[in-house]
Amino acid sequence: MGTKLAIHGGEKAVPEGAVQPWPPIDAVDREMVVASLEAHEHVFGPNLNAFQEEFAAWNGNKYVLATNSGTAALQMCVAACGCGVGDEVIVPAWSWPSSASCVIHNDAIPVFVDIDFDTMNIDVNRIEAAITPKTKAILVVHLHGLAVAMDKVMAIAERHGLKVIEDACQGHGATYRGRKAGTWGHCASFSCNQNKLLCAGEGGFFVTDDEALFEKGKMLGVFGETRDPAPDPGYHNYAMACKYNSNDLVSAFGRAQLGKLSGYLDLIRENVTVLREELDGVPHLILPVEPENHGHNWYNYTIRFDMASLGHQDNPVAMRDALIAAINAEGVPNAAWQQFILPAMTVFRAQDAYGQGHPWSSPHAAPVDYSLDQYPVAQRHCETHTCLVMAIRPPNGPEVARLLGRGIRKVMKNTDMLTP
Ligand SMILES: Cc1ncc(COP(=O)(O)O)c(C=O)c1O
Repeated sequence: MGTKLAIHGGEKAVPEGAVQPWPPIDAVDREMVVASLEAHEHVFGPNLNAFQEEFAAWNGNKYVLATNSGTAALQMCVAACGCGVGDEVIVPAWSWPSSASCVIHNDAIPVFVDIDFDTMNIDVNRIEAAITPKTKAILVVHLHGLAVAMDKVMAIAERHGLKVIEDACQGHGATYRGRKAGTWGHCASFSCNQNKLLCAGEGGFFVTDDEALFEKGKMLGVFGETRDPAPDPGYHNYAMACKYNSNDLVSAFGRAQLGKLSGYLDLIRENVTVLREELDGVPHLILPVEPENHGHNWYNYTIRFDMASLGHQDNPVAMRDALIAAINAEGVPNAAWQQFILPAMTVFRAQDAYGQGHPWSSPHAAPVDYSLDQYPVAQRHCETHTCLVMAIRPPNGPEVARLLGRGIRKVMKNTDMLTP
């Protein structure tokens, strides 16, 4: 490999075709999906129930509802926790939009809290200052597969009589103090979309150990019904609700993948160990951490570029994008995960979701301030990060991880060749 960067016509560090797509598909996936198709029970069929039971057993939850997305499961969580008109829900300033839009979908008001730079998760030490008499719940996100320090969050919630919702959409198998994400709070959501460690194409789970929350979630998931959707629906809308249930075909695919999930997580850990070896001592990188008591699932290997050492503090985004492009050109798929922190996104900046400023304009809501200078850590993170997602997962193994690390190293040792 020469030192001419691939973006300038040099040889790629990772040869074409070396990185295989996610998720691996084998005979089990094919057989289960075809069997579901041929069984003609396309919605509340046997795979849907089995998927719920098997995920409950795998994750350690009492009640599980399979949903058609993680977003749907989050909306069920917020509603099940009784957050409604004028109530405030604390959310991190850096996450996927659904972590905050689920709040406004329930007529409640998100209150953003800055993140901790090292963990990239909500800064637990800032939560208490954001609590007001209107706060009803704390929604934490186990971002990129690193669990939030849940004992601290639960202690705060208990002191203030709040509910805790875990957005574990990226958190399959992540642990804190040996306990899995999605088993700490009052309820939690998981996603099973294409990118997730448990991929069913689309889908998710609403999980809880609380029977009352489960019944509420179930009702909200299927038209506000109080009866089981099958075999005896009542077709009566008892509450403001939606259609969030999953189906048999998606569940068949999800079950096939769930059987392989623990093995996937083991291989990803091996890959990350090799990647880390390759990135050791590479200049201008701030590598992700796995603090003591945390078991990372490495859903997303997020690197920050050290703009101070690169001398690009004044134009971090241009330099970040130049580095991302150069690393991609080496055959290392990487991208900035989000371009904006949540309070900078239009719907929150405008404080208008449904027109007429609703839900912020409700007479039951207190004014909230989303001035961006309150979130300097999230902003710095946003402007300097990139992520490796699928390439570090099976079927790719340590040999691919080593190539990925070498591709990144090649670019980072030749940053003087790049112009933002
Ligand atoms: C942190 C987080 N929350 C929520 C979601 C929403 O999940 P879904 O795409 O299944 O609706 C995602 C999906 O990317 C996510 O990453």
